[in-house]
Amino acid sequence: MASSAQTKEASGSIDSTFAGELAKAGTKDDEKTPKERSEAAPSKSPRTRTDEKFPFESDTPLLSKNQLKRKRKWEKSMEIKQRRKQQEKDIKIAKAQAEGRNLEQERLEQEWRAKDGAGRRRRQEWWEKDKLPKIKSSFQVCIDCSFEGLMTTKEINSLSNQIRYCYAYNRRNPHPCALTVTSLGGETLANLQKVSGFDEWVLRAFSQSDKPVPEVFKDRIQDVVYLTSDSDNVINDLDDSKIYIIGGIVDRNRLPETAIRRATEWGLQTAKLPLAEHLAKMKSSKVLTCNHVFEILLKYRMFDKNWEKALLEVLPSRKDLQPGSHADDQHNKKKINDNTDSGVKETTANAASEDKAGPAERCNNKKVTDM
Ligand SMILES: C[S@@+](CC[C@H](N)C(=O)[O-])C[C@H]1O[C@@H](n2cnc3c(N)ncnc32)[C@H](O)[C@@H]1O
Repeated sequence: MASSAQTKEASGSIDSTFAGELAKAGTKDDEKTPKERSEAAPSKSPRTRTDEKFPFESDTPLLSKNQLKRKRKWEKSMEIKQRRKQQEKDIKIAKAQAEGRNLEQERLEQEWRAKDGAGRRRRQEWWEKDKLPKIKSSFQVCIDCSFEGLMTTKEINSLSNQIRYCYAYNRRNPHPCALTVTSLGGETLANLQKVSGFDEWVLRAFSQSDKPVPEVFKDRIQDVVYLTSDSDNVINDLDDSKIYIIGGIVDRNRLPETAIRRATEWGLQTAKLPLAEHLAKMKSSKVLTCNHVFEILLKYRMFDKNWEKALLEVLPSRKDLQPGSHADDQHNKKKINDNTDSGVKETTANAASEDKAGPAERCNNKKVTDM
């Protein structure tokens, strides 16, 4: 396992949408890689929605017509947002009063519990009793963040969001796994450090390291399987003794075969998810986002090792997805076919070439979907 978190608490949250808004308004910084950016003149860091301040206000007192228009639009949307918040608050209060609850008393009690730390201790005890044994008996998942130098700021922001999503999904999963992020540094780490409570992720099956995969898992390198859609091996069953690596890459198909090259360089086994085997007519790209891959791994176990169900749950917006004609047979045969050490089997040449066909696809069914 990686070293424990060395984090700093900060209040903001990551929001690449707003950074995108800024980019549209003139800054081209997002399109540069970190290397290009370090060579260029220092630029302003993107604001987040939580700043609740119009982006041009403090910097340019004289606004152009377009900026003014955008400012008014932004102010109107903020007004609506605030009104909606107030309405929701009023409804909650009315509902509580109707139920005869003493809200002031509840507030005081909550404050007292927060000071006392009793609730936190209880939750920690429950986590250790309920979740730790499950985590210890599960496969591990690692997100390899060694590709930051190849990505733009927008892509790095998106990857940071995907890591947040994986952490949150794992934490609330009835059967979580140990989640490690390796080669974590630079802008990705800075983004995560801005997340309130990041310091405490380490208490919830999360670990991080600035070291690369081969160093972090040097004692168990034979158990490491690098997941990549470019592999010739199809994963057939998940093995609880394995560490599955997901390439921390958001590239919208800009960096093909990057993960498999890294895995080969490190001498690691590789495998791809059994998409073609369980989903017929999957014409679109089989390159999934990090969070989708992570979710599929956990759902496969939740659904009693049913790939088809896990895949359809995670990728419902892919209209061309249909259960494979032999999907049920495959599910029944899953154990029989699992005869290799890594829990993966060689695919046919046909399936391998099919996997490379089709354009990159962006799926919109989840909050975090940029590839
Ligand atoms: C958006 S993809 C990155 C694509 C990138 N061009 C590459 O070379 O891997 C993010 C990561 O999710 C994992 N992944 C995506 N689709 C997969 C699939 N069909 N099977 C196995 N892993 C997959 C891989 O680890 C991949 O590196």
